[in-house]
Amino acid sequence: VQIYKRVSDISKVLEALKRKNKLIGYVPTMGALHQGHASLIRKSIIDNDITVCSIFVNPTQFNDKSDLENYPRPIELDIKTLMSEGCQILFLPEVNDIYSKDFEEVDLMQFSSIRNMLEGRFRPGHFDGVISVVKRLFDIVNPHNVYFGQKDFQQCVIINEIIKKYFPQISFHLCPTVRESDGLALSSRNVHLSISERQDALKLSAALALIKNNCAEFEPRDLIKQGLNLINESNRIIVDYLEIVDSETLIAIEKFSPNQTAIAVIAAFCGKTRLVDNMFLHQ
Ligand code: PAF
Repeated sequence: VQIYKRVSDISKVLEALKRKNKLIGYVPTMGALHQGHASLIRKSIIDNDITVCSIFVNPTQFNDKSDLENYPRPIELDIKTLMSEGCQILFLPEVNDIYSKDFEEVDLMQFSSIRNMLEGRFRPGHFDGVISVVKRLFDIVNPHNVYFGQKDFQQCVIINEIIKKYFPQISFHLCPTVRESDGLALSSRNVHLSISERQDALKLSAALALIKNNCAEFEPRDLIKQGLNLINESNRIIVDYLEIVDSETLIAIEKFSPNQTAIAVIAAFCGKTRLVDNMFLHQ
């Protein structure tokens, strides 16, 4: 894997590859790569001539200083993962080079209220940081295809908005959440879970699965109660939200309709670690 740290260097290399008509796939990450990221890289390698992965722990999307400080940064291991997956280019920029004088502020007002819902309600400013950095990264890499994991579903909806507004030439690929065999969604934050917190964390995917299994028989309000009852078997989990929403508008669904695709979304703390997960229903 070729590593580029400077925006000017990677820009030159990618321009040359594009002049040779190479298809570029891009997997933006914040590192601490796990099998979920590896699955995105594998998909990109199949679809494209060149796969670029970026690792950049973006300070502007952390609303909690200690979350930013404690975010895992196992860069040597990450490079090994990228090598073994066959990723060709790693972009590893510094904060100063991303937020340099070339950085153009994005007019966040033109983004829909989706950025202030669900995650946005509990992590104020989080998506403003995500929108700014993703716009900057896409400006630099300007790939043909981008790959994102379903686990951060709201982020995927917002990135689709960025693409529609600024990068209609980019194709977005939503890739399934990768789970441990017991259902836990892979996340870079899972390394912070103690053994008992990890046991609690299993209740998140179990609640979503229960909702999915029962959604033909019950309406959203009852399903949410059933999910919360299961989670509350452990009194150590603090739920930020568990909702059933329309997968396009993220507005809560009161009554299922065949015209809407419903998705159950959850965010909860297991100890100090905040986890998110989701599942499409009726599928
Ligand atoms: O999902 C992530 O890892 C980050 O939010 C992203 C998209 C790389 C932006 O910093």
